Amino acid sequence: MTRPPEISFAEPDSADIATRPGVVALTAEADGRLEAAGRRIDRLTRGAIGRATAAKAWQRLEEGQGLVIDMPHGLAAEKLVLVRLARRPAPLDARRAGAFVAKSAGGREITLLANARSAAPMAFGLALRAYDFDLYRSRKEDDEPPARKALVLVAGAEAVARAARDDAARAEGVFFTRDLVNEPANVLTTTDFAARLGAMQELGLDVEILEEDDIRALGMRALLGVAQGSANPPRVVVMSWKGAGDEPPLALIGKGVVFDTGGISIKPAQGMEEMTMDMAGAGVVAGVMRTLALRRARADVVGIVGLVENMPDGRAQRPGDIVRSMKGDTIEVINTDAEGRLVLADLLWYAQERFAPAAMVDLATLTGAMIIALGHHRAGYFANDDILATQLQQAADAEGEGAWRMPLGREYDRQLKSRLADMKNVGGRPAGAVTAAQFLARFVKDGVPWAHIDIAGVTLPPEETEFAPKGPTGWGVLTLDRLVSTRAGG
Ligand code: BES
Ligand code: MN
Ligand code: ZN
Repeated sequence: MTRPPEISFAEPDSADIATRPGVVALTAEADGRLEAAGRRIDRLTRGAIGRATAAKAWQRLEEGQGLVIDMPHGLAAEKLVLVRLARRPAPLDARRAGAFVAKSAGGREITLLANARSAAPMAFGLALRAYDFDLYRSRKEDDEPPARKALVLVAGAEAVARAARDDAARAEGVFFTRDLVNEPANVLTTTDFAARLGAMQELGLDVEILEEDDIRALGMRALLGVAQGSANPPRVVVMSWKGAGDEPPLALIGKGVVFDTGGISIKPAQGMEEMTMDMAGAGVVAGVMRTLALRRARADVVGIVGLVENMPDGRAQRPGDIVRSMKGDTIEVINTDAEGRLVLADLLWYAQERFAPAAMVDLATLTGAMIIALGHHRAGYFANDDILATQLQQAADAEGEGAWRMPLGREYDRQLKSRLADMKNVGGRPAGAVTAAQFLARFVKDGVPWAHIDIAGVTLPPEETEFAPKGPTGWGVLTLDRLVSTRAGG
């Protein structure tokens, strides 16, 4: 997998800044005030920093944004990056500042001067932004790779390094998810995906891979109907992390459609290649489980993903087919392109029957309608429980991952009424994201706190974001990791 950059922490006097290669980065306050390290660099560069912070451009910068001085006088470094940041910044601003440094540095080695408050969050932002998926580019000489190495000079380095250890696990989880989303569907097949999850046993996760016969024996016919047109067999993978003892677990459930052609209700050719990302829900669940294992979280969490490919074929599911879900309810498949909810319905039921979870959160690139509603800046979530919804919102806010609660309600559920079966799999054009959630709600038992997050818009936005270059964001790994911590206290 793509590795996050190697970040080490050391005392400020342990390195000679004047001779550091690559990029030297530091922060200054809005009014230009510098800390001791900054004053030293200002002297070395014969006042370059003072001139920069006196300029109009400095005043226009937002917190966490900065400017770059090329070939600075008095330093061996090629670039001096100066970021605007308060002495006691909000953690997210410091994270943004770190991302700015990574973006400005290109592939150069970074030496970052920071204080004890900003060092860890800046290092984390730096790591998150220093991502590039170059597996399939043959001539890497032409690339501008991301930073591979950073040295953070900070007083009390040892304590800061300790505080940053969990962040390294979180960055690795995010990178794992981004890689999975980037992989094309001819490589990341259902079986290849399952094997990559199986390999996480080495980290101490319990991983169980259900094959087609197992899935049939469980009665997951809604999920199987989606998979039946593909040469790649379905897999359901159960990943368990038991870090708390024997608590009822939090269940994380992910849609893992490795490619969504739409099936017989086939999608238009234009842009169909993007449907390699339709496994992102499963990718996020996998990234969270990886993080929990790496940081040895004191929590009990089970991750369940349904891996299928939605293809048109002589054996494919047809519009009008009626399938019986594991729950026992029948579903009239009006549109084979509304396949994610069919997969999730059986996974939700399975999670409750097998694990009696304390709560469930599912993630899915479920509807185009979600993108129409909220665009690419916020994921929409639905919840049957206000406490869970609040925890989720607070976690997303703290991580700077946009989220917005959407409604559930009886009126919407009526749109799913079928003439022939217990329900249809589509509710028409109005409120398409809501009726999809409403469909899932039918598979949640009374009293089980549940949230559904539609990540269709935030998984692969058309532009770079604060913490990711253009490409997959890994949206949700950090929010769910934080949700796990707040719920379990570890
Ligand atoms: N995977 C798609 C949703 C999607 C669209 C995700 C664009 C990311 C970007 C999902 O399976 C789908 O096709 N949904 C249909 C549902 C419709 C047929 C009710 C949609 O949104 O058009
Ligand atoms: Mn679809
Ligand atoms: Zn889909």
